[in-house]
Amino acid sequence: METPKEIFLKDYKKPDYYFHTVDLTFSLGEEHTIVSSSITVYQRIEGNSSAPPSLVLDGVDLKLVSIKVDGKQLQKEDYHLDARHLTISSPPSTARFSLEIVTEIQPQKNTSLEGLYKSSGNFVTHCEAEGFRKITYYQDRPDIMAKYTCRVEGDKALYPVLLSNGNLVEEGNLEGGKHYAVWEDPHKKPCYLFALVAGQLQSRDDSFVTRSGRNVSLKIWTTAQDLPKTAHAMNSLKAAMKWDEDVFGLEYDLDLFNIVVVADFNMGAMENKSLNIFNSVLVLASPETASDAEYARIQGVIAHEYFHNWTGNRVTCRDWFQLTLKEGLTVFRDQEFSSDMGSRSVKRIEDVSFLRNNQFPEDAGPMAHPVRPHSYIKMDNFYTSTVYRKGAQVVRMYKTLLGSEGFRRGMDLYFKRHDGQAVTCEDFYAAMRDANDADFANLLHWYSQAGTPTMNVTSFYNSEAKTYSLKFSQQVPPTPGQAVKEPMLIPVAVGLLDSNGKDMPLTSVYRDGMLQVVSTDGQPAYTTVLKITKKEEEFDFSEISERPVPSLLRGYSAPVRLTSDLTDTDLFFLLAYDSDEFNRWEAGQVLSRKLMLSLAADFQQNKPLALNADFVHGFRSMLTDGSLDKEFIAKAINLPGVGEITEMMDIADPDAVHAVRSFIMKHLASELKAEFLKTVENNRSSDPYIFNHSNVSRRALKNTALSYLATLEDSQITELALNEYKTATNMTDQFAALTALVQHPSKTRDDVLADFYGKWEHDYLVVNKWFGLQAISDIPGNVENVRKLLKHPAFDLRNPNKVRSLVGGFCGSPVNFHAKDGSGYKFLGEIVLQLDKLNPQGASRMVSALSRWRRYDETRQAHAKAQLEMILSTNGLSENVFEIASKSLA
Ligand code: PHE
Ligand code: ZN
Repeated sequence: METPKEIFLKDYKKPDYYFHTVDLTFSLGEEHTIVSSSITVYQRIEGNSSAPPSLVLDGVDLKLVSIKVDGKQLQKEDYHLDARHLTISSPPSTARFSLEIVTEIQPQKNTSLEGLYKSSGNFVTHCEAEGFRKITYYQDRPDIMAKYTCRVEGDKALYPVLLSNGNLVEEGNLEGGKHYAVWEDPHKKPCYLFALVAGQLQSRDDSFVTRSGRNVSLKIWTTAQDLPKTAHAMNSLKAAMKWDEDVFGLEYDLDLFNIVVVADFNMGAMENKSLNIFNSVLVLASPETASDAEYARIQGVIAHEYFHNWTGNRVTCRDWFQLTLKEGLTVFRDQEFSSDMGSRSVKRIEDVSFLRNNQFPEDAGPMAHPVRPHSYIKMDNFYTSTVYRKGAQVVRMYKTLLGSEGFRRGMDLYFKRHDGQAVTCEDFYAAMRDANDADFANLLHWYSQAGTPTMNVTSFYNSEAKTYSLKFSQQVPPTPGQAVKEPMLIPVAVGLLDSNGKDMPLTSVYRDGMLQVVSTDGQPAYTTVLKITKKEEEFDFSEISERPVPSLLRGYSAPVRLTSDLTDTDLFFLLAYDSDEFNRWEAGQVLSRKLMLSLAADFQQNKPLALNADFVHGFRSMLTDGSLDKEFIAKAINLPGVGEITEMMDIADPDAVHAVRSFIMKHLASELKAEFLKTVENNRSSDPYIFNHSNVSRRALKNTALSYLATLEDSQITELALNEYKTATNMTDQFAALTALVQHPSKTRDDVLADFYGKWEHDYLVVNKWFGLQAISDIPGNVENVRKLLKHPAFDLRNPNKVRSLVGGFCGSPVNFHAKDGSGYKFLGEIVLQLDKLNPQGASRMVSALSRWRRYDETRQAHAKAQLEMILSTNGLSENVFEIASKSLA
């Protein structure tokens, strides 16, 4: 293999040629498909001298049939073809010319799931980031924005439905049992937003009237059998359309909006203009088959893709380094939407947990990159939680700094300036700054510096002067290629609690002796946002009548690791009284993290494990506090994950953390057994399933209590869980009971797993949950069971959802994936090689599980390194896997 080439942000050049219109014709066939493309090309610099630059088109796995410029067939000597490009060395010197290209492709053989491929007998495209080049020769880059028409021809019986972007302008029959449809998209777009679908599909139809009176027809396409499972997605879509009008003043801009459900899809979903394509797991739901968590995810992702219509499609990215421009912003928007649909603080807790468990490790490992990366080998590898989730936190910081109204002013200016353009993160920054005359020193560093900043806070109360000082110091850790960092702008939302647990009024704060405005309307504030801009900085609050307990980083106002001089007593106080619900949860988490780390050290030294009474007491008061939201309680009594804690150790010891976490859960379960049983009892309901906050909360609390009880290995609890399993009327309760029953090896476990499969074998999405549950099991030696499941008739390595459930699920098990004998790593190494031949994107996602091998002890290191080396030495490795494996070893 030639060494793959790295691409750099600093090398960005404007294209020499723009494409204005693109007319495509697809002739879909059983052996191959013919794609004819007709493009009007403009020179960027008109009259570009006598020797215009050559026109380089991207193309991969294409068979070139013919190429014409201004109607004239090009001869072999007029162009150059290699495995990746078609180069026309002397294009016409006219300002404008036409280009006609015919290619032949074989979608039936395409297992990479990018470009045009087949899924369940239907034709589907997927183009982001660089899949369009697998369809035809093109300048496959997002700053080429053109108006498209698309004519689709295919067998009428096999492919009765023919869809593409925009409006249907013509359709009719052709000879030989074929038919055609012509679609026209009036909005110009980059090619990554192009889409085509052809097949046997039926639609759920609905409509939405926009606030300016446009009647939009909404369609969700799937198999006839799955149509009943699209109701929740349709409701979510309408809610999202309304929300974007209410919150951002953004309306839909066409008369038709299609969503197509696909069983084989690499990612979650795709925002193609007016033709969103969705992984089935993110659309299909019924009370019997999908859990509350899945209902919530569907609602969020339907909204996410819809929101892209403005943040991504109308205003797109100049180049792929700017991906967070659309993804960070759109994730932020979907997070806000979900907050408004349910509980804001619970949503915040979920998002922050996700960031800690997924993005923090990435930011501390060999693949660490800024939210706007400086370079990549394969763009597919940069659809990361850093770009998406940390990117969303960066957008949230603008809002924290500017307030809701200021943020909205910035958004309005961004659309006013850039509608129809392909832009950069600086453009977004400039719109926010200019709309608010804001002082944003150091905020741009968030786009260029990788690594999670740490921030330490120390406090001092002066009882004579009645001042309270907070001293901040920040540090951004070194990451690959970035040894030294600049201080960042870190907005810290702060409140101060008095001895009754009430927020103190904040009137004035001095920064380096200079008065800062706390509130603009003359009223005292109860939370204020301190802007930390230097490595070390002090803020002094005046008129503070007693020593307060500070509530720092309220709502998690910046994605940093916070340490402080708060004592356990302070933390228990915050847990009980903080008016910021997020920080109440956080206080409990800090206490749990400390406890788990110290118990892990005890475990390593073979000391007996013990839990102090304060901790149990704190838990009991949360669990039994009737004034609290039930979903919040469920979050508050959930311990940090094994991954989150191992991440904090000098040498990761998953066995120790797993043992400690199990110990704490079991101890709490036995101490609080009566309370947990009562919680299960009181939160049962046989009412029909409704997905709304009060029902979701009730189920969440009941099922969390059940998960504690299940650790007890006690026959009374097994009976209880079996009964829950048998009487459940929805998947949330049924699956929670199943999960409770499979914790420990037993005959009941085997029976109930078999029973569940028997019930659901006709529904592949439920079967995936069944795979996932077994894959992640901590039962010793589970790798053998997972190997067996690979051969299960319902498993298929070509389907990404199944791979994610079984292989991805297994990599999530601290005990078995990280087994000290290396059996888990070896299993993964084998799968990666098999998968890479079929689907490089899927394979590289799996190989990432090995990338943090240096965090572990020498034995594990040696096993993991051997697998990475084995992978890297394999012939014909994809660029995707090469990039992850080589950077992991570097
Ligand atoms: N752009 C998609 C999103 O909404 C994700 C995606 C990326 C899908 C690449 C497929 C391929 O986040
Ligand atoms: Zn997105």
